[in-house]
Amino acid sequence: MRKKIVAGNWKMNKVLDEAIALTSELVNMAHDEVTNDAEIILCPPAIYLSTIQKYIENAPHFSVAAQNVSDKLSGAFTGEIAAPMLQSIGVKYVLVGHSERRQYFGETNALLAEKVNVSLAHGISPIFCCGESLDQRQNEDYIGFVKNQISESLFHLSAEQILSVIIAYEPIWAIGTGLTATSEQAQEMHAALRGHLAGKYGEEVANEISILYGGSVTAASAPELFSAPDIDGGLVGGASLKSREFTNIIKAR
Ligand code: G3P
Repeated sequence: MRKKIVAGNWKMNKVLDEAIALTSELVNMAHDEVTNDAEIILCPPAIYLSTIQKYIENAPHFSVAAQNVSDKLSGAFTGEIAAPMLQSIGVKYVLVGHSERRQYFGETNALLAEKVNVSLAHGISPIFCCGESLDQRQNEDYIGFVKNQISESLFHLSAEQILSVIIAYEPIWAIGTGLTATSEQAQEMHAALRGHLAGKYGEEVANEISILYGGSVTAASAPELFSAPDIDGGLVGGASLKSREFTNIIKAR
């Protein structure tokens, strides 16, 4: 049975005390209120990963993810963080290819394939982000575009390797805009991506891969989104910075 996951991408937000307070609130609320088996993945800024891990070490279902990883293993790359470093502090997940990394840092499908490789080689599951722009949705083969992101960055993997990958479909036009995709729009893409994965790896493998939706997920929109057959959870941005809202999204999974 594929994992049900709710991940919170904090992006570049929170100072240390706020990050600790948010984590403590989430752990307490989840303990008291969450009865489902959703995996909860917190994606704080990298400097907080070890601290947040300490605050969730006794909280079942909680994990942390890094927001990025270098394709290099070490060297003169100021500011970068390498997979061996994340592995050395016990990080098990990493966001790869978030649209903001693609937009602001020029990350290509080829580079992201390398980031996926180094992550897997160090026991870290990539949460591979993909999604189309508004222009592509309105004027192009938006499904073909996202399928190509998957093909170019993931289809070199073996069936065993792809089973360690989580996919996050995040239509760019829904990120940070308050314009959530409808459950029909999201399900259409999720089903297409699962079919694409099945074409490469077979239905049994494809049905084991978690595909998350991201893009203005709220406590109000989560229940319908998560009821769709191929939506296995969410990758939440702004709403993950608010403990009550994020807990209500987790409860909807
Ligand atoms: O990675 C999740 C993020 O891109 C979605 O952001 O604020 O639209 O939920 P938001």
